[in-house]
Amino acid sequence: MLKPLSLLGGISPAQFLAEYWHKKPLLIKQALPNFGDMLTPNELAGLACEDDAQARIVSQKNGQWQLQHGPFDDRTFAKLPKTDWTLLVQGVNQLLPEAADLLAQFSFIPHARLDDLMVSYAPIGGGVGAHVDSYDVFLLQGSGKRNWKIQNPNIAICKPLSMVENAPLKIISNFEATDEWTLEAGDMLYLPPHIAHWGVAETDDCMTYSIGFRAPKTQELAHEFLGYLQDNLQLNGQYADPDLQPQTHPAEISAAMVKKVQSMLQKISWDDSHVADFLGKYLTEPKLHIVFDAPKKLSFDAFLKRISTAAILLDLKSQMLFFKAHFYLNGERLIATTNIEPVLKKLADTRQLSSADCKPQTFNDLATTLHGAYLAGYITLE
Ligand code: SIN
Ligand code: CO
Repeated sequence: MLKPLSLLGGISPAQFLAEYWHKKPLLIKQALPNFGDMLTPNELAGLACEDDAQARIVSQKNGQWQLQHGPFDDRTFAKLPKTDWTLLVQGVNQLLPEAADLLAQFSFIPHARLDDLMVSYAPIGGGVGAHVDSYDVFLLQGSGKRNWKIQNPNIAICKPLSMVENAPLKIISNFEATDEWTLEAGDMLYLPPHIAHWGVAETDDCMTYSIGFRAPKTQELAHEFLGYLQDNLQLNGQYADPDLQPQTHPAEISAAMVKKVQSMLQKISWDDSHVADFLGKYLTEPKLHIVFDAPKKLSFDAFLKRISTAAILLDLKSQMLFFKAHFYLNGERLIATTNIEPVLKKLADTRQLSSADCKPQTFNDLATTLHGAYLAGYITLE
């Protein structure tokens, strides 16, 4: 049983999940007292200039919304007005260890649901307009103040939402606030998916940290799973028609042929183990822009020697999950012996292992499982 968390305003993760998660908003004053920004506005702008940055600038000019995609350069920032714009950088947890540590505080939600940490910077008046997200999100305020308005369908019977026409992003034109709060450093607002919300910087240097949890769409899961089946399915048999009948139109696809193919296709089947294997690979698959840096080459023997004293850390860009005794790292299944399952679970849960976590007699098996991951840059040694 997990204890009450001050991060959740003194309620336990179990109570949060039962009453709020995916159900209703929760404002938590001083969820993280003394929360200091982990990066300055200039450092955030620096990240937005890197080649692999997923950065956007949303601004308003003469009442018209504008959207620019990064990577940016100094000239982009120099041209921005004094107010009414915002810079948003996704995946900051993959770039900064402090951001990954912040995400670790949200481990009461399974890692399989986590998407990333987005950090925004805005001068006064900046924001992305009223919108809905398909994500659960914790909006944690860093420096400055942000005013949040939400349109809570649990409180008011709201009209169907309509969107601003010809805007480069989906902005609600008939937003009607039902609740409003001003968040200061360390305050946090949890929003379930599909609650319309609108955050506007009330001060300059407003930094907001969005811890987002993805909820994949059925269509997306089905599309990806069909791709998985295509790669993994092996069906026996071949079309056969010893009972072929003469037909009036040789060009006609006969009903008999349709029936036979229908029964052949019904051999496509799957069970929980296929779905779990698909999820393990799909949910840990790095996003397209992610590139892992090659480490200093180490032979198997040298790697084995190092892990008997060094700590093993998942690279910031790595994602590791498991299902029963099946381990997945960055879209690949790890081959592991039973004796190292507990330490691999610890590595997946906490993203790190110290040599003291491992029994000396397991180092060889651990090295066998992780040497390839080390050479791929998926794990690092410290
Ligand atoms: C922001 O940080 O400005 C936007 C966050 C959001 O509304 O999802
Ligand atoms: Co949002």
